[in-house]
Parts: sequence; C-alpha cells; structure tokens
Amino acid sequence: MQKTLSIIKPDATARNLAGTINSRFEQNGLRIIAQKRLQLTKAQANKFYEVHKDKAFYDSLCEFMSSGQIVAQVLSGEDAVTKNREIMGATNPANAEIGTIRRDFGESIEHNAVHGSDSEENAETEIAFFFSGLEIME
Ligand code: CMP
Repeated sequence: MQKTLSIIKPDATARNLAGTINSRFEQNGLRIIAQKRLQLTKAQANKFYEVHKDKAFYDSLCEFMSSGQIVAQVLSGEDAVTKNREIMGATNPANAEIGTIRRDFGESIEHNAVHGSDSEENAETEIAFFFSGLEIME
C-alpha cells in the first residue's frame, strides 16, 4: 500500500465540502488513515510550498493557503499518489476532466479545492510536515 498527502484547501472548507470530497476518495478506493483540520500560518505555508518559491504565484498561493482552514490527510491505497492525482484532476479546474474534484469544486488554478503529492518521495516529506507516525493508522 502506498501513502500520499492530501489537503482540502481553504476554498473548499469554506464551502463545507470536506465530507463531499472525502467521499470521492473513499468511493475510489483510497482510505483516509490520518486527518486533521487546521489553519496554517503564512510562514508554515511558505515552508510547505518552498519548492515553488521562485514562481510568480508563490506569495499569492501561500497567502491563500494560510487564509482559512484546511484539512490535511494521509490517503492510503494501491498506487495512492497516481490514483489521487486522477481523482483530483488537472491543476487548473478548467482543464480537469469531468467528474474530478477540481473540475467539480475548483474555482480557479489557485482556488483549486485540493492538493495532492506529486511523487512517492514528496509524499513522504509532505506527510512528515503535518503528521507524526503515531497519528497515522496504517
Ligand atoms: P497544488 O497542487 O497545491 O500545488 C501548487 C499549487 O500552486 C497548485 O496546486 C495551484 O493551486 C498553484 N498554482 C500552480 N500554477 C499556478 C499558476 N500559474 N497561478 C496560480 N497558482 C498556481
């Protein structure tokens, strides 16, 4: 079983969509094995998205990600990283396939409802950012 880090973003929690989005994961065979609701500080968002620090959208992205509550979660399943990316759809909701989370609930490329790790290696780092081993129910 593989693990991946998922974040339900502030645009989606503000619209009370956490449960609706969680059911997409579960209906598609992913298991939520850790989950917490929190609000990041700007400094924490800067750290989490550090790989994007040279991008034009970095500051705006970090402002947005610290602007409201998020739900951080560990998803587990066969090929969880790839499967979650399929369930989420393309980064820009306008390009995401019908039936994906971003197509159905994303509002823009920044307010795109969910984040998911893009590789198994990054998943490990991102999971460790939010969760201790004790909090993950393998
Ligand atoms: P996420 O999966 O959280 O990873 C990085 C985020 O940066 C991405 O989703 C988008 O929300 C955001 N992003 C990527 N490209 C752009 C862009 N061109 N303009 C604004 N935000 C972007």
